[in-house]
Amino acid sequence: MARGFFITFEGGEGAGKSTQIERLAKKMRAKKYDVLVTREPGGSPGAEAVRHVLLSGAAEPFGPKMEALLFAAARSDHVEQVIRPAVERGSVVLCDRFMDSSRVYQGVTGGLDPAFMDALEKVAINGMVPDMTLIFDIDPAEGLRRATARRGSSDGPDRFEKETLAIHQRRREAFLAIAAAEPERCVVVDASADLDTVEDVVTAIVFAALERMMPAQRRQAAPV
Ligand code: TYD
Repeated sequence: MARGFFITFEGGEGAGKSTQIERLAKKMRAKKYDVLVTREPGGSPGAEAVRHVLLSGAAEPFGPKMEALLFAAARSDHVEQVIRPAVERGSVVLCDRFMDSSRVYQGVTGGLDPAFMDALEKVAINGMVPDMTLIFDIDPAEGLRRATARRGSSDGPDRFEKETLAIHQRRREAFLAIAAAEPERCVVVDASADLDTVEDVVTAIVFAALERMMPAQRRQAAPV
């Protein structure tokens, strides 16, 4: 059976993941790849319903365990309703945040038990491990500055953005630790460079992997 490719994009706040995903998707479609862009928390109707509860801070008073369970519930729905079917029909799925965000935000900076987090991850992804993960690395002070500029002055920071610089610094280190522990899956991208430079780096990494893993005959015609 044709199998597509599952790529996740991870990193701290304001690292430019969403912009780079859009640019990459455009380039891939031009090369006739069938691409699905999605994000977490969310990406399926069930998961989008949970997204607001998490990002508004409505779940925060109930503690990090409750939040971790809600992220996992959203992820499970997203995997089964959207990601797995797309990969099974041969698409390339580009997902803005996935399991590594839970490992870092809930596991490391949420202080949850690693065994609990491992068990939750297994249930949520149900074998759907990303083929490749790009970890966008940026100094959190710069990332938060960018996130604030992007948001404009009308909206405040979300539940996770509002935390202290020291917490964001721990998250950066935790993402880099995941990359070091799983080099066969993860590639670190220096996200501090300008957009065009980061785009060139991302394009080179992803297309090299696709040429290797997904021969031309398995690509599908881009929708017109
Ligand atoms: P969002 O505005 O969608 O994205 P981004 O920061 O990537 O531009 O915010 C998602 C927030 O949710 C972000 O602060 C990270 C957090 N998050 C977790 O804490 N755990 C998770 O498992 C996921 C997927 C996200």
